[in-house]
Amino acid sequence: MSVSEPVLLSAAEVEAALEALADLVTDAELGRWRTANLGRKSRLSLALRSLGRRPVEERAAAGRFLNQAKGKLERGFRDRRAALKAERTRALRPLDVSLPGRPLPRGGLHPITLTERAVVAAFASMGFHVIEGPEVETEYYNFEALRIPADHPAREAMDTFYLEGAEETPLLLRTHTSPNQIRFMERQTPPIRVIAPGRTYRNEATDATHEWMITQTEVLAVDEGLTLAHLKGALYEFARRMFGEDRTIRFRCDYFPFVEPGVEVAVSSPRGWIEILGAGMVHPEILRNMGYDPEIYTGFAAGLGVERIAMLRYGIRDIRRFYENDLRFLRQF
Ligand code: DAH
Repeated sequence: MSVSEPVLLSAAEVEAALEALADLVTDAELGRWRTANLGRKSRLSLALRSLGRRPVEERAAAGRFLNQAKGKLERGFRDRRAALKAERTRALRPLDVSLPGRPLPRGGLHPITLTERAVVAAFASMGFHVIEGPEVETEYYNFEALRIPADHPAREAMDTFYLEGAEETPLLLRTHTSPNQIRFMERQTPPIRVIAPGRTYRNEATDATHEWMITQTEVLAVDEGLTLAHLKGALYEFARRMFGEDRTIRFRCDYFPFVEPGVEVAVSSPRGWIEILGAGMVHPEILRNMGYDPEIYTGFAAGLGVERIAMLRYGIRDIRRFYENDLRFLRQF
């Protein structure tokens, strides 16, 4: 009695069979593939059946390989059959152009954009024009021209991001929008009524009321005969338009090197007073440096914190929410 050689199946043969699946389209082709690769007379079945004729020391590994191969071939077959079925179902249900439209998900504006637009609209309705300036500034515009010399403590309060590679004329990310006052007065003559919204940057540790990037809006008016009463009038009117008639507004003295006198404005909230802006009468020395005679012209300026205003408007407690890009937060506006 002759003992036949055991049937062997190689990994390459299994791979080839799996690759061939992709070319099968009809049920007949699928059936033929199954008979050839998984049927009773397939190489796989023969190899499994002749396992016992292999040397004892090879049996365990060969058995494991064949069982894995069987699993792969069966899975491959099922997947291909399911894919073909899905394709056919799709083909039977072509696009129905008569179906009514469904709403597309719509994007929205960011709460800071919405608030900035409301701020701009409030001042625009009082006759202010919108201007813009660069976010990368020189020390001259950000500090010196605003009477903040190198050794002034106000520089320390504004932890500044400096740009690398510009040591001779240091460049920085503006720490406030006030440089726009200088840039505008250099090129224009009174009467002036402008606002300059934009991003500002400070190297700050962040917490619920501090961010390293915030949006400000600078306000500047220069004309003959402007007084602190005009400043107060404009800011009260702004607050009324922004928050309605019912919120209480508080003016207090404050110090900023580029104004004299200087004030700060806070708005009442359930959590106490929230400061939303600094302001004051443009310092006469600055007017003179800009070529305006301070005996004739006076001006007022203000710098508003847009995030703070948005927090008051929407009742948001943590400024960091604005820039986390959490859609659950952003979808609410
Ligand atoms: N630039 C100041 C800051 O960021 C705010 C400010 C105060 C702006 C007084 C002004 C002003 O225009 O008059 O802290």
